[in-house]
Amino acid sequence: MHEMKKPRKIPFFLGFLCFLVLLSASFSAASRPSSTTKKPSVIFPVSGNVYPNGYYHVTVNIGQPPKQYFLDIDTGSDLTWLQCDAPCVKCTPAPHSPYKPNKNLVTCKDPLCASLHWPANYQCEALDQCDYEVEYADSGSSLGVLVQDFFPVRLTNGSISAPRVAFGCGYNQEVPGSNPPYTDGVLGLGTGKSSILSQLQGLGLIRNVVGHCLSVQGGGFLFFGDGLVPSSGIVWTSLSSKSFEKHYSLGPADLLFGGQASGVKGLSIVFDSGSTYSYFTSQAYSALVSLLKKDLNGKKQLHDAVDDKSLPVCWKGPKSFKSVSDVKSYFKPLALVFTNAKNVQFQLQPEAYLIVTKQGNVCLGILNGTEVGLGNFNVIGDISLQDKLVIYDNEKQQIGWAPANCNRLPNVDRDYSEGNYQSYAAMLPTSL
Ligand SMILES: *[C@@H]1O[C@H](CO)[C@@H](O)[C@H](O)[C@H]1NC(C)=O
Ligand SMILES: *[C@@H]1O[C@H](CO)[C@@H](O)[C@H](O)[C@H]1NC(C)=O
Repeated sequence: MHEMKKPRKIPFFLGFLCFLVLLSASFSAASRPSSTTKKPSVIFPVSGNVYPNGYYHVTVNIGQPPKQYFLDIDTGSDLTWLQCDAPCVKCTPAPHSPYKPNKNLVTCKDPLCASLHWPANYQCEALDQCDYEVEYADSGSSLGVLVQDFFPVRLTNGSISAPRVAFGCGYNQEVPGSNPPYTDGVLGLGTGKSSILSQLQGLGLIRNVVGHCLSVQGGGFLFFGDGLVPSSGIVWTSLSSKSFEKHYSLGPADLLFGGQASGVKGLSIVFDSGSTYSYFTSQAYSALVSLLKKDLNGKKQLHDAVDDKSLPVCWKGPKSFKSVSDVKSYFKPLALVFTNAKNVQFQLQPEAYLIVTKQGNVCLGILNGTEVGLGNFNVIGDISLQDKLVIYDNEKQQIGWAPANCNRLPNVDRDYSEGNYQSYAAMLPTSL
């Protein structure tokens, strides 16, 4: 029997869904009114790609003296964690040796711990430590204790700061699939109070904003704070306000195929950089696959590549392909039209929904979310986030995007000063 190879990584946010019940308690600090004055940002170069790696990661420094760790970028979950020698019961292969805690446990009396465990009445035990467990949709998980340590960062205003932040010290990890991300842990960038973003905001360092620019060629950059948010050129959409949707969700949206209505309407969308591919609900997925097949049948150049098990739907051409640009002309662009807002579209060029495999075939990078239990959500994963500047603003409760060249890091040392974002702006579309 032929078995479909599971995608390497499926969205992190479902675990977050289970966990969100625990995370959604409001933190004791009152939310501050946002003013229009910008605060600085922190920039991280990004490594990785959609295929073949399946994830993007940043390098962070943690501790005193600081040590480097690679963390998977995940806007679909809140808690940041590192594999940890506490001792490590079950650590998975990682690029660096596990983090060594140093009597820096967050106690279970800390409001952050309470926020992790709400509404279950967390009993402070004799040990006084704050246990956590996070489970992801792909059945990966991390179990450990909360610790607090220095997180030295260089702000774009030139200052160096070493705030203490709380994160998970994970001593028991389960990884899904045969080829999990080769990282030391996860950088949780979700909407919740336990995220590092929210903690840095609480310390008054940055605004609770995160942005990423993931390049089709691999790599890119990530930033915290609003210091690098362009004042124009970004299309903004409000986050869904439904209280149970604590992740970055938008909608409803209708799907366009080649600029035409596809009949697929009212989609709930979640942006999740922790997912390699994008996922549509079964109905939307099935409509998309038939539209693509019908369109390709008319062109008679591509044929089903049933022997390529990289992803469920693949096509082969007259000769083997090297990159998506070789097949671009066969495929129409897709777009999500947000019907609650005026003229708000999220464009998906062929690069944002196709990969070219090692076998030289082209495969659909939008998968059947119903098959992996995503329910009603349509997940926009890394593949569809590429070559765009995507900004998640937790203070204004909105997500914005613009097409961008993600290959160049903003040259902050040379170019950043109040009101001078030139080199950064150079990466953005010329319309800015
Ligand atoms: C940079 O910003 C931080 C926090 O937002 C602030 O504490 C610091 O004083 C600023 N540094 C300079 C040089 O303006
Ligand atoms: C998507 O997955 C569901 C659940 O496994 C299945 O019933 C459905 O047929 C799938 N849809 C398509 C178009 O493959």
